[in-house]
Amino acid sequence: MKALITAGGKGTRLRPLTHTQNKHLLPIANKPILYYALEKVAAAGITDVGIVTNREGTEVKEALGDGSKWGLKITYIPQQDPLGLAHVVKISQDFIGDEPFVFYLGDNMVVGGLEKFIRVFEASKTNCHLTLARVKDPERFGVPELKNNRIVAIEEKPSSPKSEFAVSGIYIYDKTIFEAVNHIKPSDRGELEISDAHQYLLDHNYQISYSEITGWWKDTGKPEDILEANRLILEHTKSSIAGTFDRESSVTGEVVLEEGAKIINSVVRGPVVVGRNTIIENSFLGPFTSIGEECLIKKSEVEFSIILNRCEINDVRVRIENSLLGHGARVVKATVRPKTHRFMVGDQSLIEMR
Ligand code: TTP
Repeated sequence: MKALITAGGKGTRLRPLTHTQNKHLLPIANKPILYYALEKVAAAGITDVGIVTNREGTEVKEALGDGSKWGLKITYIPQQDPLGLAHVVKISQDFIGDEPFVFYLGDNMVVGGLEKFIRVFEASKTNCHLTLARVKDPERFGVPELKNNRIVAIEEKPSSPKSEFAVSGIYIYDKTIFEAVNHIKPSDRGELEISDAHQYLLDHNYQISYSEITGWWKDTGKPEDILEANRLILEHTKSSIAGTFDRESSVTGEVVLEEGAKIINSVVRGPVVVGRNTIIENSFLGPFTSIGEECLIKKSEVEFSIILNRCEINDVRVRIENSLLGHGARVVKATVRPKTHRFMVGDQSLIEMR
């Protein structure tokens, strides 16, 4: 069995971070989102992996290399334009050939392994195996209609969902999916929709089985999803201290201090991850916070946030919470008069002030 992982798309909902960075490389607990997908695929015993990137794919190639770090053999498949998930499958036909394969959306995070889904797919001898997750807002996803424990229809982003399930971003197919993606037509938004390919399979009497994802599943398309995924991963993180903290500091709960990280006269209440060579001084770090490498946090308080590499937060009088700071962002006290709020903010940024 092979695997096909997505790492392209537009990432519009994560702007401005995605103006300068592919969303699949944004860190969750200081590790790129895409690494989690590769780890799952490798753990399931799959070695031959296709990664679909956008046109150039340079950033993704640099981050993953040939895949040997995970014991994988990676083939890169560029998608000229983000024309939909069924289009991703369509352009990967030569790579996949006639083998069954796992199709994994690289921005999805799931607890547990893929093995059980593969086992059910193989035992049920169906053409397609979908994984369903119970969600509060099914209208954002592909939604199955179930009758007598069978999927009878699938709609993409329906205004009146027929179930409380979303089709999650882990699918298993045999080669009949290529017949589907080669026959369907683009939707009103101009994309070849994977839900239409699934509906094609149903309409042509191919068999679809499914498993329910118990535990959690996250599609990290929006900032709040990234923060929530960070919380879920940190919840299962164990302490590991390669950096240092002084006697004046209080470090409690599960805390990861990477090499060269220094906690000085501060309170750190885990779960928290602090990246390489980052300095936390006279500050408070609250639960569910990931701080990248080479940051400086001084005389400030940060909680439930993701701070990317080389950021500075200095002498900020209100606690920063529920926030995502891109590489090298600086939030600092004004030093010259008039002491106003001063912004140098990139396109499509968001600042909320109390
Ligand atoms: P989405 O999150 O649905 O789309 P997107 O990445 O374009 O983001 P946004 O809606 O915020 O603009 O994509 C799901 C996954 O599939 C994600 O890993 C990106 C990837 N993808 C492609 O690789 N090619 C495509 O044509 C599309 C639509 C998505």
